[in-house]
Amino acid sequence: MSDPCSFSSFTSCVTRHLNLRLQVDFTRRVLRGKVALTVEALEDKFSSLTLDTSDLTVSAVTANQQPARFSLGPKHSFKGAPLEIQLPFSLSRGQHVIVEVTYETAPSATALQWLTPEQTAGKKQPYLFSQCQAHHCRSMIPCQDSPSIKHTYYSQVSVPKDLVAVMSAVRDGQEVDPEDAGRVIYRFRQPVSMPSYLIAIVVGALESREIGPRTRVWSEKEFVDKAAFEFSETETMLKTAEDLAGPYVWGQYDILVLPPSFPYGGMENPCLTFATPTLLAGDKSLSNVIAHEISHSWTGNLVTNKTWEHFWLNEGHTVYLERMIGGRMHGEQFRQFKAMGGWKELQDSVNTFGANNPLTNLVPRLQDVNPDDAFSSVPYEKGFALLYHLEELMGGPDVFMGFVKSYIQMFAYSSVTTEEWKNYLFTYFKDKVDVLNKVDWNAWMFTPGMPPVKPKYDTTMADACIALSQRWIQAKDQDLNGFKEADVKSLSSHQMIEFLSLLLHEAALPLTHVKRMQQVYQLNSCMNAEIRFRWLRLCVRSKLEEAVPMALKMATEQGRMKFTRPLFREVFNFEKYRDEAVKTFLANRAAMHPVTAGLTAKDLKVDAAAAP
Ligand code: BES
Ligand code: ZN
Repeated sequence: MSDPCSFSSFTSCVTRHLNLRLQVDFTRRVLRGKVALTVEALEDKFSSLTLDTSDLTVSAVTANQQPARFSLGPKHSFKGAPLEIQLPFSLSRGQHVIVEVTYETAPSATALQWLTPEQTAGKKQPYLFSQCQAHHCRSMIPCQDSPSIKHTYYSQVSVPKDLVAVMSAVRDGQEVDPEDAGRVIYRFRQPVSMPSYLIAIVVGALESREIGPRTRVWSEKEFVDKAAFEFSETETMLKTAEDLAGPYVWGQYDILVLPPSFPYGGMENPCLTFATPTLLAGDKSLSNVIAHEISHSWTGNLVTNKTWEHFWLNEGHTVYLERMIGGRMHGEQFRQFKAMGGWKELQDSVNTFGANNPLTNLVPRLQDVNPDDAFSSVPYEKGFALLYHLEELMGGPDVFMGFVKSYIQMFAYSSVTTEEWKNYLFTYFKDKVDVLNKVDWNAWMFTPGMPPVKPKYDTTMADACIALSQRWIQAKDQDLNGFKEADVKSLSSHQMIEFLSLLLHEAALPLTHVKRMQQVYQLNSCMNAEIRFRWLRLCVRSKLEEAVPMALKMATEQGRMKFTRPLFREVFNFEKYRDEAVKTFLANRAAMHPVTAGLTAKDLKVDAAAAP
């Protein structure tokens, strides 16, 4: 078996440890330095290895300090270029070699976004952040860039002295750079074995504040207090997660709030979750993203998908745990409400991809598919739906959590395939194999479209959302006066999100309706990103022209792909404003995150190579 997204073979050798020494050069927008990989041979007569790279310039390679021959192979569209290394000796199975690569990244490295001071809150200092998942680590470090391989790491990073560096590891001190008094070296150690996609770095004018016994929040100083308030439930969530899944092995759990262009809601970098500032709603209502990233400390970071084809093992189990935490904190009805919302997200994804699209399989084939193109809610929500279905079949949440906990224990510190997961499921529930055999596994895992079984969820919390959305859908123009501010007074922001999702699920509302909705609910002034995003999409879909600039503003002022891509697409589909969407994208492209820019270009059918 091999990883379709990596050039390195995980059957001939594995990296056990990685030692990084990097200089961060903001002037040239490059990382420069050395990585020493401790590699173990898995076969006899081992004398060559292949590392993944993407747009790296490699100037030297040594093996146990002796010069080694190396060459970069041809560049693949998204896998990058293989770095072939010939060792000047050969190893027997079980022996180790230290391979040191001296290299430099490209300013266009897809893992990195370099921000100018103007793009930061403080406006005075530049900023750098990384996002390696799924296959971008290779643009930052030459390595075996496959989730099937796990290693520890140590790192020393030299940065200008007014800046602070943090990584997905435990902080291990700092010192003035002996080679340049204007710089400081930050040190980090990650003693828990983890895949390359979890290596992460941020350099900026960062400050931090303690919010719990093992938690600090980090960000530019402008956001520290707001973040401390928003994420105050973190320790409760960690304890709940430990109660569900077993001990938290990573020591520290810090949260870093990134600049608005961070492309995801959250990223589970070990010891240091990355979070988008769009979570700062002011009322802790979007904290499920933190519960989600915390949950990855077990499902994803301890037990890891062997290749990106098994990504649902990471995300499905994590959503399952996230909702268990939500259920423990806000009650079972809340868990059911979120599960139902997830089913609708799945329907939306299946509709967007098309019900016959193989990328809507729970376990898709990713040969020649860029993982960024395959990304969607499917692994999250089809994965969750399968686990919830099994929960019902096996005897409820407590029984099924017993399995999840045992699965985590069984596969901790390793990487698994769907088949291994399923075998373990059958072993754990050996007394219920007859029930498990009735599950249509082929339909769940290898068939596109919606799952074969639709779970029934408790609708207590959803009822008010469903009723109000139905009133709007059925209303004639003469009924519009019947809508009042009070309709939404008793809805929580979760319910408001659900109400708008239900409307987005249907045909566009008449223009008269969205105008009236603004009059009575005043949603234009709502700054909760999840609500605002859905509201603006709804308006643009109904061809409300004054919503177009607001939608484009939101699409560009923050860069979370979940918001930015659909907002751009929605305006693009409003023919009159199609050119406006493209023009706005082109004007902003250079300042956007490289992955967001690439995917949005595809969405808007802009030639990826076209000059801005
Ligand atoms: N690991 C993902 C983010 C990710 C996935 C980055 C694939 C790159 C490639 C993270 O844990 C995640 O799922 N974030 C969600 C949170 C949500 C499901 C609660 C997000 O960003 O919205
Ligand atoms: Zn996740």
